[in-house]
Amino acid sequence: MRVLVAILLGLLLAVPALADDPPKPLDANGLALTPPMGWNSWNKFGCDNSEKTVRAAADAMASNGMRDAGYKYLVIDDCWQGKRDANGFIQPDPAKFPSGIKALADYVHSKGLKFGIYSDAGFQTCAHRPGSQGHEYQDALQYARWGVDYLKYDWCSTGTRDAREAYRTMAEALRATGRPIVFSICEWGTAKPWLWATNTGNLWRTTGDIWDHWAGPNSNGYSLGVMDIIDLNEPLWPFAGPGHWNDADMLEVGNGGMSENEYRAHFSLWAMMASPLMAGNDLANMTPEIRAILLNKEVIAVDQDALGEQGRRIDRQGDMEVWMKPLTGGARAVLFLNRGETPGTVGVKWGALGYPKRLKATVTDLWSKQVWHGQSAGLERTVAPHAVVMLRIEP
Ligand code: GLA
Repeated sequence: MRVLVAILLGLLLAVPALADDPPKPLDANGLALTPPMGWNSWNKFGCDNSEKTVRAAADAMASNGMRDAGYKYLVIDDCWQGKRDANGFIQPDPAKFPSGIKALADYVHSKGLKFGIYSDAGFQTCAHRPGSQGHEYQDALQYARWGVDYLKYDWCSTGTRDAREAYRTMAEALRATGRPIVFSICEWGTAKPWLWATNTGNLWRTTGDIWDHWAGPNSNGYSLGVMDIIDLNEPLWPFAGPGHWNDADMLEVGNGGMSENEYRAHFSLWAMMASPLMAGNDLANMTPEIRAILLNKEVIAVDQDALGEQGRRIDRQGDMEVWMKPLTGGARAVLFLNRGETPGTVGVKWGALGYPKRLKATVTDLWSKQVWHGQSAGLERTVAPHAVVMLRIEP
């Protein structure tokens, strides 16, 4: 009898373990409490990256004010990979990275920067280099040995693989190394990572690739303009927060396809959306105008605000839009966007920002640097075509 009871009890206790429960959510890795900032090689260099371009970018970041403004992660995108060695460990392309990745990471670290790399959850990357599928733990170990601080993990050649499982596997592999590594999910929003990746990744792409253009897809039908991306990324604001951000893709500021006003708008909107700010231009050869955009400290402060709330569109009238981002201490960032081809005027009442109807406030224009102080019921501005006015309101 006793034996029978013991067997029954044993079976009962075993049931929960046998059931097909979803895996326990991961604990947060504690990284990226504000949106990651840095530089990524892809938008400018594509597959033409090399240790030379990466070193030049590191030198520029350390000397042109970017590092001190918060641009910390230098990330090599696709095409750094060569073959796997006899034991399956991934090696860099020897023609482009003859000194090896460890030496490059050491160099980047010596400049006071962090070092990031790229891989893919499929058997191949988007540029047909070896992917990490089936090698997750081995690749994570290799990255940790090299001194990698950030992994961008893409979604090409994944076949019928489940995104949730694939990203979780790499997230666990990264944790198993014991090295703090920011995990950047790049599956273009296909499987809605904002619904499941809060502790799996620190940021997740929400759209297809950006291209250096104001509005509309490019001829490949896949890449999106700045206006297309904001329309897809904006509604996801409730899912962003410290440690887990909606990634509107890397910046195109300075790559030549947009006007200065458009680049200012692009940068401002990314900051309003608390998107990662990963510069994507040739840092070693940039004009003072582009540098001034990337180094606007007040706009960066809106992106990096510790509250970690993504801004949102609160009004839209034709081509004119009003955006608002709550900031620490009861401040607000307000952005007026003109998507149209002629100047337009737009305003907002304090009540729409969650303030009392009449308010005494200091209003700073983050691009013209004009400061206004007084009491009113709201404010109004005229905005040039394809441009923004971005303000900080301090009650
Ligand atoms: C995908 C990604 C891009 C870039 C390329 C590299 O398209 O979305 O950001 O990494 O792959 O091949």
